[in-house]
Amino acid sequence: MSVHDDVMDKAAVRHVIEDAVAGLHQDDIALRASTCDALGIGTPEWTACRDELIEELDEAEDWLDREEAIVESDTSAPLTDSDTGPEFLPSHATLALVQSAMEEELERSPDRVVRTQDPKWLTMLYQRLRAKGRGKAKFISHRALDDFQFRLPERTTVALVSDWGTGNVHAIAVAKQIALRKPDHVVHLGDVYYAGTPREVRKNFLEIWQAFGPQRARYWALNGNHDMYSGGYGFFEHLLPAFDQPASYFNLQNQYWRLLGLDTAYLNHRITPAQLAWLPAQLTGSARTILMTHHHLLSPFRKRGDAMEQALDPYLSAGQLFAWIWGHEHHLFEFADYRGVKCRCIGHGSLPYVPPDRRRRRHHAEIVRMETRPSPLNPSRGMHGFALLRFDGPALAIEYVDEVGGTAWTEEW
Ligand SMILES: [Fe+2]
Repeated sequence: MSVHDDVMDKAAVRHVIEDAVAGLHQDDIALRASTCDALGIGTPEWTACRDELIEELDEAEDWLDREEAIVESDTSAPLTDSDTGPEFLPSHATLALVQSAMEEELERSPDRVVRTQDPKWLTMLYQRLRAKGRGKAKFISHRALDDFQFRLPERTTVALVSDWGTGNVHAIAVAKQIALRKPDHVVHLGDVYYAGTPREVRKNFLEIWQAFGPQRARYWALNGNHDMYSGGYGFFEHLLPAFDQPASYFNLQNQYWRLLGLDTAYLNHRITPAQLAWLPAQLTGSARTILMTHHHLLSPFRKRGDAMEQALDPYLSAGQLFAWIWGHEHHLFEFADYRGVKCRCIGHGSLPYVPPDRRRRRHHAEIVRMETRPSPLNPSRGMHGFALLRFDGPALAIEYVDEVGGTAWTEEW
């Protein structure tokens, strides 16, 4: 399984929503019986559920209309992950859940069609959206300030990859290239598509690593906005235990370097109070800190991560962050140093994207280098890849490896 092109087609998503709303308004007996049966509820309850579902889908459709109007008229407020690219990956929980349900239905249906009037489909869609009412998975907090600290060998190789949880051909190619480099650690910087459901965590993430990733590496993961669209249950209750990772934030350090992973998705584009309380105890000593987050601080296409910057302001002012690496934006960028911090975006893990020279910049962010080459696996889209960090005592060499084993560029810190 992997993400299907149809599911990333905005018109197809809109069509599915419109048909679902029409079907729910009709409320035929078969639909009612099938849904009541699946949910174990009676007809009066179903009426309330149906109204709720219609309302949610109407709201999602409004968002689609608004987004189109905004993209056309106001270039300062892009709302989608893929921005002006053709792949539709909305930063909207209901739409991500609709896409997630579509994906499952396409897998299930023998002729790979979403039968939008089928009571079984509408029931599945309803169950998927209803899960939103469950709220978020429980955030796992430290008890002691030295919790979630792990030893990084002084000589070691670490692969960083982000926005990789698609299970598509690029994800497989990138996993194979990571395996060839035999890293000791692999860190995923977040986003299992479409909505990080337990099923998606298994099929688009864990099974792909198992089949194609390095066998001996220790795996780590950060939380992303897409992981949270289904409440984060897939991430906290399935992904973290599979990696034997105790929480969504951690500190992997030796005497020279510190890889500090923070969760910026549990509170969207923010850092939870628990992590902020834990942070000062991590930033002691002379090791250089490389901060890793899913969300961006800087972006040429989206608003800056002001809330994160504000929360980390004391450490930025004190020069306690050496570098900050993030994903979320599906590109490979080297930014000019910001407040003395080396800033990199490595969100080009597997989602098809339009190379940035063909896109408009909307926000100020000084870019030194960027990946503009086409992907040999899909020449109308950009190249995918990951960052390979080779630590040798105080020296760190970084190679930005691409999906066919080439090198975008290298640098030494
Ligand atoms: Fe993201």
